[in-house]
Amino acid sequence: MKSRPSGFGIEQLPRIVRGEGSYLIDAAGKRYLDGSGGPAVFCLGHAHPEVNAAITRQLQDVAYAYRYLFTSSALEELTATVLRLCGAEFQDLVFTGSGSEAVEAAMKIALQYFAARGLMNKRHFIARRRSWHGNTLGALSISDFAQRRRAFEGSLLDVTFVSAANAYRMPDGVRREDLVGHLAAELEHAIVSVGPERVAAFVFEPIVGAAGGVVPAPEGYAVAIQAVCRKYDVLMIADEVMCGAGRAGTWRALEFDGIVPDIMCIAKGLAGGYIPLGAAVVTRAIATLIHSEHGAYMTGHTFTGHTAACAAGVAVQDILQRDGLVDRVRRDGAALQESLREALAKFDEVGDVRGRGFFIGIELVSDRSTKAPFPAKRALSFDIGARAFADGLICYPCSGHVDGSAGDTIIIAPPYNAADAELEQIIAKLVSAIGSALSGS
Ligand SMILES: Cc1ncc(COP(=O)(O)O)c(C=O)c1O
Repeated sequence: MKSRPSGFGIEQLPRIVRGEGSYLIDAAGKRYLDGSGGPAVFCLGHAHPEVNAAITRQLQDVAYAYRYLFTSSALEELTATVLRLCGAEFQDLVFTGSGSEAVEAAMKIALQYFAARGLMNKRHFIARRRSWHGNTLGALSISDFAQRRRAFEGSLLDVTFVSAANAYRMPDGVRREDLVGHLAAELEHAIVSVGPERVAAFVFEPIVGAAGGVVPAPEGYAVAIQAVCRKYDVLMIADEVMCGAGRAGTWRALEFDGIVPDIMCIAKGLAGGYIPLGAAVVTRAIATLIHSEHGAYMTGHTFTGHTAACAAGVAVQDILQRDGLVDRVRRDGAALQESLREALAKFDEVGDVRGRGFFIGIELVSDRSTKAPFPAKRALSFDIGARAFADGLICYPCSGHVDGSAGDTIIIAPPYNAADAELEQIIAKLVSAIGSALSGS
């Protein structure tokens, strides 16, 4: 069973040999402008000399030392930096090697927290439709991504799903002004139906990534959801693996909503793809109780807190701060989105352009008024992705968000330091790819 064409339908993948700022270069010398960081990873582009120098220095000293035997400057510095960037409510974190592991760690920390309180019945998770949290069994269990779950059904955790928070694709019969109230009531109903004494946590992406094609929750959603969670002693886990670390123009995506979740997952922008790195970041009450009752988090892996990965994270975050790049993303993200909207307005098939910061989704529909998707078998988003790639633009095509198979979106998520002229190139190449895919030329 093939859930998506490999390499966006390109069977013979080009061989990567070099990165250079916002460009990747293959063995034939072809240059690819990175309009999406692959899946929204590369916040500083490629081969940044300062990041590479920091990693090299660390490798020359020592690549890695096991966290139960040694601490390191890189690990301590990155911990302090992340906690400062996250805000005073966060107390500590568990480093991981990927976004999935960060989500897995967050789920386990939630369970451990209730175990530390003697509430061993609080084991159940609630998540949202059209969400993606990762490929490990726990993270996959709380993900509603039919194509990626299908082969594993029967072995996944029993999870309750509530509606996606999508203002473009509203639940049937709900008016726009009632959406937040409706979603909060639905979550409350789900918690009460399962039994609050059984529910450990609600897990959600503040801005949905690949599973929805960049879907920011409607204004007021996070506040309303947090009130419901607090009422029933249910933890709120924010999965900011894709939308966090500055991608949406604030370091934490939920800063925008004025909300502090109980546990937060980050990954992609943390070390910007230079070395795999993620983290589950934990607020004070949870961290304090776990430390006092159990001494330590019962999660982690051999490579947790890998020294060179932490050095990469320190370098990436230092540069983001020094060069004001998260502010730049916030400042220029709205203009980028507006320029995309204007450039794409000529296509009736562009139903929605949305997002925040340098995290923008373009949804394609066969009929703008009904929002009907294109048939899944047309694989429109992958066709656009393949045409863009052939023309030297990397964007991120996603599919299946409407009914599990139909639905086409393209994600644009450039490096935070992409030049203005590169942003213009991204728009021009994307317009060309969409135009040629739609006309079939
Ligand atoms: C929101 C979100 N959570 C978790 C993950 C899983 O991260 P990884 O692929 O690094 O395991 C992803 C990956 O795309 C993601 O977008």
